[in-house]
Amino acid sequence: MMVAMRIAIAGGTGTVGRRTVTAAQEAGHETVVLSRSHGVDLATGKGLVAALRGADAVIDVTSIATLNGARAVEFFTATAKHLLAAAESAGVGHVVVLSIVGIDRVPHDYYAGKLAQEGVVAASASPWTILRATQFHEFAAQMFDRAKAGPLHLAPVARVQPVAAQEVAERLVALAAGSPQGRVTDLAGPQEERLSEMVRAFARATGHRGWIPALRVPTRQMRGMRAGGVLPGPDADRGRQTFSEWIAQL
Ligand SMILES: NC(=O)c1ccc[n+]([C@@H]2O[C@H](COP(=O)([O-])OP(=O)(O)OC[C@H]3O[C@@H](n4cnc5c(N)ncnc54)[C@H](OP(=O)(O)O)[C@@H]3O)[C@@H](O)[C@H]2O)c1
Repeated sequence: MMVAMRIAIAGGTGTVGRRTVTAAQEAGHETVVLSRSHGVDLATGKGLVAALRGADAVIDVTSIATLNGARAVEFFTATAKHLLAAAESAGVGHVVVLSIVGIDRVPHDYYAGKLAQEGVVAASASPWTILRATQFHEFAAQMFDRAKAGPLHLAPVARVQPVAAQEVAERLVALAAGSPQGRVTDLAGPQEERLSEMVRAFARATGHRGWIPALRVPTRQMRGMRAGGVLPGPDADRGRQTFSEWIAQL
């Protein structure tokens, strides 16, 4: 029988965070959202201990929109330290963190921040679980919005195996409801896709008619992604929904 819990979701207004809040509520749990728009800042710790009081578990799906390695390391180190310290003072028994497949093969730029976050969590005394997932289908939308040169949208070239953010959200809730497990099996999508084609398909599906040139982004992270560094290994769990199925239901 499922035991209803109080689950805090840091980043609960974001792409996977919103879905995590809904998935937790649909599973019968009570939720509390930790984000700046809800008066809680993980980068400074403001409001954190008070918001975590009474929570049984906390899921961290915060993010920063940066490609700069130093900024990413600073953000993910500070947010992880503040979250773990606050979880300990508030007596939260389980910290669940979402990370990304392949960050140790491509430890650069944004992924340097994710690796630093994992390091802080793994070294902490708090009971923890880390799930690594591949890029979301929704990554196509995030890239469409963020990869731009002036008004021109760009389609970065990379090899990815995207998974539905909804399925990642459901997995995070199931993990939070269980015991702390350390690193768990990675979660990937059902098949490999080309990121540039995903961005173009998203653009077409949402009514964009302009030319979207492919771009080989000259950063170490994107070079690693072109080389297949963030594709899942053979042991990863595979999600159900394909990218085309996701596009078809937009
Ligand atoms: N996107 C992907 O394809 C993908 C794939 C695998 C794993 N991940 C991981 O999943 C996590 C979530 O990614 P996402 O794409 O869903 O993020 P997102 O849509 O960019 O949302 C980021 C969330 O973080 C919150 N946030 C940002 N700064 C904060 C701060 N200082 N204090 C409190 N909350 C803060 C934001 O809310 P406010 O602005 O209100 O503060 C928002 O709720 C990240 O750790 C990412 O590395 C992402």
